[in-house]
Parts: sequence; structure tokens; C-alpha cells
Amino acid sequence: MTNIRGFASDNNSGVHPDILKAMSEVNTGHVVGYGDDKYTADVIEKFREVFGRDVEVLFVYNGTGANVTSIQALTRPFNAVICSSLSHIYVDECGAPEKHSGCKLLPVHVSDAKLTIENIKQHMHGFGFEHHSQPKMVSITQVTEVGTVYTIGEIRAIADYVHSNGMYLHMDGARISNAAVALGCSFKEMTFDAGVDVLSFGGTKNGLMFGEAVVFANNDLAANVKYIRKQSTQLHSKMRYIAAQFKAMLIDDLWKKNAAHANRMAQLLAEKVAEIPEIQITQKVEANGVFCIVPEKLIKPLQEEYFFYFWDESKNEVRWMTSFDTTEEDIEGFVSLIKKLLK
Ligand SMILES: Cc1ncc(COP(=O)(O)O)c(C=O)c1O
Repeated sequence: MTNIRGFASDNNSGVHPDILKAMSEVNTGHVVGYGDDKYTADVIEKFREVFGRDVEVLFVYNGTGANVTSIQALTRPFNAVICSSLSHIYVDECGAPEKHSGCKLLPVHVSDAKLTIENIKQHMHGFGFEHHSQPKMVSITQVTEVGTVYTIGEIRAIADYVHSNGMYLHMDGARISNAAVALGCSFKEMTFDAGVDVLSFGGTKNGLMFGEAVVFANNDLAANVKYIRKQSTQLHSKMRYIAAQFKAMLIDDLWKKNAAHANRMAQLLAEKVAEIPEIQITQKVEANGVFCIVPEKLIKPLQEEYFFYFWDESKNEVRWMTSFDTTEEDIEGFVSLIKKLLK
């Protein structure tokens, strides 16, 4: 591999310098561990400014931990969670949501990874029947796993439907900043104003070293979650370092700068690739991912220079992710290599 910035994942990029600086600034003296410190209190206050006064916030290590904690908090082991068949909770968490919550995941097969009332309905049965897991939660991912974005109206429609059936709406917001930039809205408008009950709020894919947040719409929903987080091994002892990262992300809109840049780079890549007839873009490019079918002969040599993953190997469909540190030169170089290999 000769190039240090590929298109494999927004997790492959490093840590934004402002985040490292913020961690270093709190790296002095002793403070009480496990979140009982002023840095954590300060950043929770910041979350309440951003998301609304009623929210309850807990920090966890990673996105899987945020999803597992969110699901456990609002379900019992006899429940079911309806999700897309492409969702991270269904495909990429090694069964952690099922293991920790005991819930059955009910997948909906959709090529754009977006749930709708119509496609959720296929699993809305068996209520009160003791032989079937009882649907209690719908989980949507924003940005979806294929780079598409739910509109606020779409989220609101799902939330209303879910609530009218006595269920909860979870949002896996591993890339929520990219979605907020794409929609030009605030986090609050896209989440709790639209009816989300619990949110996995992502940081790592947008420049943090580690740490995600679980945000509940209100205190009642979060009743037992501190015990659940601890049992799920997601309680960080030196909490000030997660708190400092989120504070740096939320003040001065660093989240927006990073996500806007990543989204812009994906648009640039998509524009350039759209001019190459041998390549077919397979999903709408709405955030920081470009999904394409490419000639097979290109894949290996491209991966050697700019690493990326297959999305569907049977179709030669690949996933190219951009990040806060992707540069125009990276894209120019990548597209030039594609053109050279096609000659
Ligand atoms: C949609 C989505 N949710 C959650 C995660 C979080 O995963 P991790 O546990 O690796 O932080 C990811 C990471 O790839 C993701 O893409």
C-alpha cells in the first residue's frame, strides 16, 4: 500500500487535531472517575443546549456499545426490534444486540436501507401472542449504511406510526453529523423534535479518538440505563477524556465543519466518477459514501493504492467512504488511477 489515505472507512482516518488538543487540555491533575467530574457535567449541559433541556446523556466507548445500551434500555428479552437487513445492528455487531438485550431482530429487506411504514408493517403482527417475540422498537440508521439520508418528514412518519403502536424509535446516528449537514438542519430537529426516543450519537467517524453518546428524549426513558451501561462493560473510568472530545466537537461547530468537508469530498468523487461510463453509481450520494459497480479488473490494483471494501462482491459493488481528512488531491489521484487502469 503506497497511499496513506484510502476510501475504506471514516473510521480509518486519524483524530482531528482540535480533539487531541482538547484531550490534552484536560490531562492535568486528578479528577473523580466514571463521569462524576466537572468536564462531564459541562458537556452534558452542552448536549442539553443542543438537543433540548429534557435529554438524558450517557457516554460509551463505541457505536456497538451505544446501540446495545439503547436497545436494552427500552426493551425486555421477549421483545423484537425491527430494522433494515443492511443495518449495522443486524449485520456488523456480531450479534451483540441480541446477546445483550435478548431481543430478536426482525430484518426488512430494502436496497436503499431505508425503513418506511409500509415495509415495517410486514413485521407488525403477533402482538399479544405468547409464542412470538413482541415488537417493541424500530431502529433506523441515519446516515444509512448505504449513504442515504432520511428526511425529517420520513423520520416523523415512522415515529408517529411506532408510537401509535406502543413502540419506541431508536436512531443509530453513527454518522448523524453527516446527515445534519446533508439536510441543513439541527440535531434536535432531526431527532427528538421528529419523535426519536433514543439516539446513538456518533463521534468516532467524525474526528474523535473514541467515544459515542446515548441520548434519551427524557429522563423516564433512561430510568435504569446507568446499570445497563455498566453491565454491558461500556462505562469508561477516565470519563473526562470522552467528555473533552465531545465538548470540542460541539463547540464552534467542529462537527459541522468535519462532516461538511467529508460530504463535499463524496460529492466531488461522485461527480468525477459519474463521467466514467464503465462505472455505475448504485446509491444516491447524500452524505459521505459513494457506492459503485466497477469493472472487476480495477478492484485489486485500486485497493493496493487506496484501500476500500467490497460492498457486494457478487456484483463487484464497492463502497468508497470519505472522511474529514480526505483531500481533493486524494480524489484526483484516485480518479486518475481509475482512468489509467481503464486504458
Ligand atoms: C451505521 C453504524 N453504526 C454503528 C457503528 C459503530 O460501530 P463500532 O462499534 O465499530 O464503533 C458503525 C461503524 O462502522 C456504523 O457504520
